Amino acid sequence: MFISKNLGVNELGNLTIGGVDASLLAKEYGTPLYVMDEALFRDNCRRYKRAMELDYGRKGIVCYASKAFCCKEVFKILKEEGLWADVASGGELYTAVSAGFPMGKIVFHGCCKTADELTMALKNKVGRIVVDNFSELSALSEIAVEMDVSADIMLRIKPCVEVHTHELVQTGNIDSKFGFAAQTGEALEAVRLALLLRNINLKGFHCHIGSQILDTDSFVKAAEAMLLFISEVKEQLSFEAGELNLGGGFGIKYTEEDKAPEYELYINDVSARIKKLCADKGLSLPLIMIEPGRSIPAHSGITLYTAGEVKVIPEVRTYVMVDGGLTDNPRYSMYKAKYEFIAVNKASEPKSEIVSIAGKCCEKDPLGEGVKLQPVESGDIIAVLATGAFNYSMSSNYNRFPRPPVVMVRNGKARIIVKGETYEDMIRNDL
Ligand code: LLP
Repeated sequence: MFISKNLGVNELGNLTIGGVDASLLAKEYGTPLYVMDEALFRDNCRRYKRAMELDYGRKGIVCYASKAFCCKEVFKILKEEGLWADVASGGELYTAVSAGFPMGKIVFHGCCKTADELTMALKNKVGRIVVDNFSELSALSEIAVEMDVSADIMLRIKPCVEVHTHELVQTGNIDSKFGFAAQTGEALEAVRLALLLRNINLKGFHCHIGSQILDTDSFVKAAEAMLLFISEVKEQLSFEAGELNLGGGFGIKYTEEDKAPEYELYINDVSARIKKLCADKGLSLPLIMIEPGRSIPAHSGITLYTAGEVKVIPEVRTYVMVDGGLTDNPRYSMYKAKYEFIAVNKASEPKSEIVSIAGKCCEKDPLGEGVKLQPVESGDIIAVLATGAFNYSMSSNYNRFPRPPVVMVRNGKARIIVKGETYEDMIRNDL
């Protein structure tokens, strides 16, 4: 009935998440409210780990892309589940450090890392730094020499693979700002330099072709391109990379129309190709990392809003106003991302209306247009499904809206894992 298995309807006809009545959560914590289901988050971590172990044994590592949903509690859970984590800024790294996450399991990303960020990464002894470009490579070497430490790095490579996803989240083609291009000789040049530079220890290569990718083929093609690159580097420079990080990008089902392959399938198809190519090219199987972001937290999250006015514009459209907007979910405004909406207190009733959900920002600010919904009135609670990834993490204070709290449900109980902001927080840094 629902796009994710942690949702249900109880005997009162109310939507439940992880067995907890969503209307009670709205009542207790107010709206807008982010709700995360811990069991599903952990289950997704375990599924990825199991699949990687099955295919690669000890040579497979799951590294959660923390940008999808980042807070201290998440790093604590990842630590317990034995995953690695990728961070893409000093702020994400700081969060991991504060949560006591093991730094040897951190992969540090970014296309314009500052000297401060590189120093912070080295000081904290992060597991890998993924180097994006020539300036960063030289700067890192200089900083590492100065600090008298060695930097374990991977080079980010553009495998030049086209993917079918929103253009803003395509990152593996020649046009991408990220990484060194494999097809132009740039990447080979970067390897040559990395092998020469002082205090740089080149471990292997990384690629990330894009996000919300719903076919397996693109991943297989990227893996293939990366293996061919490894083989070329071995031939030309006598360096055989011991590690290959294939990034994330595994798409999820946001609406009934989306067809997302189970991620075990991606891993299976990719690993079969990698093993075959290694055998054909006489390469040893490298350590394989993947970096799923969205697919771990997305379905464990929902957002709850209270409906305001239901504004009917005859023969044009009906707006259902809600008490949040692009500040807590900018994804429709940015990518026209589609979601499913449910009236929490009418969850078992048919969705007989077609409406637009309008946020309360001073913008057009839709959260969805032409969406199906049960008939609602002012005061009803509306849930948006699959908002666990890139919603809280991309939230803002536009119009000085305080960010909503995040509550996590577990075993029928809820607890706050990120406090909601207050009006005092809105002026905290104002002088
Ligand atoms: N690794 C790297 C280096 C990445 O840049 C990303 C995502 C991931 C892994 C995880 O990809 P995922 O499995 O989550 O697709 N804000 C956009 C998504 C941007 C993704 C950026 N990088 C959205 O809301 O759809």
